[in-house]
Amino acid sequence: MSDILKQLKWRYATKKFDSTRKLEAKKLDTLKHAFNLTATSYGLQPLKLIVISEQETKESLVSHTMNQEQVRDASHVLVLCVEEKIDSSYIRSYFKKVQEVRDTPSEILHPFESFLVESFSEKPSEEIKIWMEKQAYLALGNLLTVCAMEEIDACPIEGFEPKKYDAFLELEKEGLRSVLVMAVGYRAEDDMFASLKKVRRGVDSVVIER
Ligand SMILES: Cc1cc2nc3c(=O)[nH]c(=O)nc-3n(C[C@H](O)[C@H](O)[C@H](O)COP(=O)(O)O)c2cc1C
Repeated sequence: MSDILKQLKWRYATKKFDSTRKLEAKKLDTLKHAFNLTATSYGLQPLKLIVISEQETKESLVSHTMNQEQVRDASHVLVLCVEEKIDSSYIRSYFKKVQEVRDTPSEILHPFESFLVESFSEKPSEEIKIWMEKQAYLALGNLLTVCAMEEIDACPIEGFEPKKYDAFLELEKEGLRSVLVMAVGYRAEDDMFASLKKVRRGVDSVVIER
């Protein structure tokens, strides 16, 4: 079996973390870089990651997370956020960065930049919101795989109240909205979920070859 499949079988949505074990700074750094390296549509990266390590903050989040105790016991809680809005100045600053990093002449970038500015200005805000949320899910998938490779235990969490998180973490001030939560750290030795067999539809059921 390939290493990556072995690690994907090793990982599971951790229900009980060992609250005494903290992620090493190097591992946390890997997760931050992996988040930043996530591929996004058009490369616009409408995402930010809040990394919570303060015990008191983690404890306060339990009641906003359907009482899921992973957010209290995990080493760190990651909150995947999207920008409140993507406007023309956001898009233009992205292209400015492309120009700086790659030294691409603006004549080459300009048509695509104009296309994106126009197409985003025509889209209803709800559509942009959904598009941004999809990018957050991509980042979650990327982080889950990286966690598996790095032997970091993780629980992806959709079961939380985004509005309560936004208010408690004062995300509005940063122009952000929370979309997903991920608890990361190390599994407790007695987490019975660690030994459960994976339930999946099976490769023959989910792959159609033509
Ligand atoms: C987007 C997403 C949201 C999830 N939300 C929760 C959650 O709120 N609480 C939880 O315990 N597990 C949550 N899970 C974990 C899934 O239930 C779990 O990944 C699935 O049952 C497959 O099991 P495995 O990851 O252990 O292989 C979530 C998973 C994903 C991908």
